[in-house]
Amino acid sequence: MKTLLRTLACSLAMTVLTLAASTAYAADSFTYVGAKKCKACHLKEFNSWSETKMAKSFELLHVGVSADAKKKAKLNPDKDYTADPVCLACHTTGYGKPGGFVSLASTPDLVGVQCEMCHGPGGTYIQKENMSLTNKEYKKADLVKLGLVGQITKSQCENCHNSKSPFFKEFKFEERKAKGTHEKFPLKYKH
Ligand code: HEC
Ligand code: HEC
Ligand code: HEC
Ligand code: HEC
Repeated sequence: MKTLLRTLACSLAMTVLTLAASTAYAADSFTYVGAKKCKACHLKEFNSWSETKMAKSFELLHVGVSADAKKKAKLNPDKDYTADPVCLACHTTGYGKPGGFVSLASTPDLVGVQCEMCHGPGGTYIQKENMSLTNKEYKKADLVKLGLVGQITKSQCENCHNSKSPFFKEFKFEERKAKGTHEKFPLKYKH
């Protein structure tokens, strides 16, 4: 009986794992393209985002930057963290995902927390037949199927704003969303 139960528990665990893996695959199957691609059509959001701390957050990994804060958090201010996989997961765009950040030398345009970390990997939804100047009235629901995030949620931010960060501060979603992402401009077309 015990063995049977163990076998059942085991196959249940396998099913859960398989399900988790397949949903992860769906979200991960779209490619990251980087903020420069979005800039072409969203200059205002791009300029405003460029001034945010998140846009500049890769800088923090260099030797000597924020030395006092690093010391307090028991990190070594004289160490170069720009190739440390632990830090890269939260200080770059699409790290370890298709089209995402690999290294400073090979993917210099994917440093920092860019558009796609909040809006979803753009490789498919920014193709001409989807979100573009020739299809300004795309249906948002169609783009959401292609990787655009329909509604930005707290849990998305908490992928990085969590206690694994050496500098974790309490995360108040509405407050941070309002002041820390980029200035918002009304959309012109129907979606
Ligand atoms: C070729 C032009 C073009 C490119 C490139 C482009 N967009 Fe867009 N995007 C548009 C247009 C057009 C709209 C609709 C604008 C409007 O209604 O005022 C839009 C709307 C959006 C919206 C609003 C979605 C909604 O309907 O609520 C988001 C978010 C967005 N884009 C993000 C991005 C991101 C992120 C990138 C880069 C990965 C990107 N866009 C690249 C043209 C583009
Ligand atoms: C789980 C995600 C995560 C990881 C892992 C992570 N960070 Fe961060 N880091 C953040 C977030 C989020 C903030 C902003 C904190 C806030 O405002 O709540 C931050 C802030 C910082 C700051 C600014 C601190 C200050 O007070 O000025 C530095 C420096 C920094 N990180 C360096 C690092 C280094 C070096 C590593 C690797 C050893 C690392 N981070 C790993 C998410 C992360
Ligand atoms: C840290 C998260 C975050 C990042 C990074 C980010 N955005 Fe946004 N963006 C938002 C939020 C939040 C909204 C408001 C809509 C919502 O709440 O879902 C928004 C709205 C938009 C819209 C709709 C029109 C508007 O201005 O409100 C566009 C277009 C857009 N973002 C483009 C971009 C582009 C392009 C980049 C990169 C250059 C970018 N965003 C980076 C969070 C982000
Ligand atoms: C990929 C990881 C990542 C994601 C996702 C992310 N952030 Fe951040 N965020 C960071 C890092 C790293 C910093 C640290 C920048 C610094 O301290 O200079 C930061 C800093 C910030 C700051 C500036 C804090 C300050 O000291 O003023 C705000 C506000 C913020 N994030 C809001 C958000 C919101 C809202 C979301 C979700 C819509 C979000 N973040 C998603 C990594 C992330």
